[in-house]
Amino acid sequence: MMVGSALRQVTRACFYLLSKASHISRGHQHQAWGSRPAASELAAQAAPGHVVELLGKSYPQDDHTNLTQKVLSRVGRNLHNQQHHPLWLIKERVKEHFYKQYVGRFGTPLFSVYDDLSPVVTTWQNFDSLLIPAHHPSRKKGDNYYLNRTHMLRAHTSAHQWDLLHAGLDAFLVVGDVYRRDQIDSQHYPVFHQLEAVRLFSKHELFAGIKDGESLQLFEQSSRSAHKQETHTMEAMKLVEFDLKQTLTRLVRHLFGDGLEIRWVDCYFPFTHPSFEMEINFHGEWLEVLGCGVMEQQLVNSAGAQDRIGWAFGLGLERLAMILYDIPDIRLFWSEDERFLKQFHVSDINQKVKFQPLSKYPAVINDISFWLPSENYAENDFYDLVRTIGGDLVEKVDLIDKFEHPKTHKTSHCYRITYRHMERTLSQREVGQVHQAVQEAVVQLLGVEGRF
Ligand code: PHE
Repeated sequence: MMVGSALRQVTRACFYLLSKASHISRGHQHQAWGSRPAASELAAQAAPGHVVELLGKSYPQDDHTNLTQKVLSRVGRNLHNQQHHPLWLIKERVKEHFYKQYVGRFGTPLFSVYDDLSPVVTTWQNFDSLLIPAHHPSRKKGDNYYLNRTHMLRAHTSAHQWDLLHAGLDAFLVVGDVYRRDQIDSQHYPVFHQLEAVRLFSKHELFAGIKDGESLQLFEQSSRSAHKQETHTMEAMKLVEFDLKQTLTRLVRHLFGDGLEIRWVDCYFPFTHPSFEMEINFHGEWLEVLGCGVMEQQLVNSAGAQDRIGWAFGLGLERLAMILYDIPDIRLFWSEDERFLKQFHVSDINQKVKFQPLSKYPAVINDISFWLPSENYAENDFYDLVRTIGGDLVEKVDLIDKFEHPKTHKTSHCYRITYRHMERTLSQREVGQVHQAVQEAVVQLLGVEGRF
């Protein structure tokens, strides 16, 4: 009973705060809240045998379902396809750059562009196809949005690599919205956009003009010694790595101008080796903007391109746009405020945009403390819940105090929630109502003991 009324309250709060109609139909509004058993029981109880309906398809709920109203309301917005939106603008500039720089044999663009693939993918596409092991931490329910055990909102555009390779493509870009459960601050939002690129090379392309014909035996089983084969593969990988870094350096110089300082940092992805991150220097601070690497041969082979070797990269569009235009808060990308959007209405996509930040309206800060339940408390469940109830009024949530009671050994968390509207001044009264809804919901849905 109590749980039911809390859910209704939350659902009401969401509908009140969401500016756009949700994509789940009425009667299917009840969603699980995360990984706590109580929360999933709740979903099952509220919706026996129910389904999540998304983009015209139905997905039966199960113990993995953890989508929130808030996130569902973002699916299908496709900011990257909205003309003159800053994310669209960057996509168009990258596309144009690739079209011009990389021309195929018949004068046609080498790279094909996919910006309309459904964000609903299978866990196989998002993880297994990329050689991500069965129990890899990146699969955690706490970090992803699952529709159910087999389907999820893609956590990266790499989820499409295998299918497009399997379809026989050698060079492509994928642009799309990606979804990750995360902390809340001006740089993080549960939905953001990535641009992925993949390029495969044949042995002929790789060694054309560089090596003697001998090296063309690269991947072939020949009588050559294993050692020699290995050396050739290493050489090929070096050439691919060189091409990758050159491609990316040209791209960011095209976007940011020649003065830009960049550096490469070694890193690890299960689907590339070697792997790198590119960082760019922004006002003296090094910021990571993309991940990339030479594709694991096992992946390329399994997709049916045994005779090829290639590179892949995935870059974060919001990150790039925030640096390029000095956009201070990631929530602005979702704003429908003309004062924001009209600044990107340029007639030529390469025209320089001088972004004028909107004046900041004052923040209203409210703290919340509670004793954690003895088990199954996940911070991301709390962040999702605050996001769902507070919507875009929530600028950030900071864990400001942790405390363990010396006798009971119970742990208390205190979070500071900063509420701010991008387009007007909020009153404490208005925020108070939202904050109270948060307090009630955490008690009922996350099983904490309030210290309000
Ligand atoms: N998919 C990776 C991420 O989201 C980025 C990446 C793409 C890395 C392609 C390597 C190759 O972090």
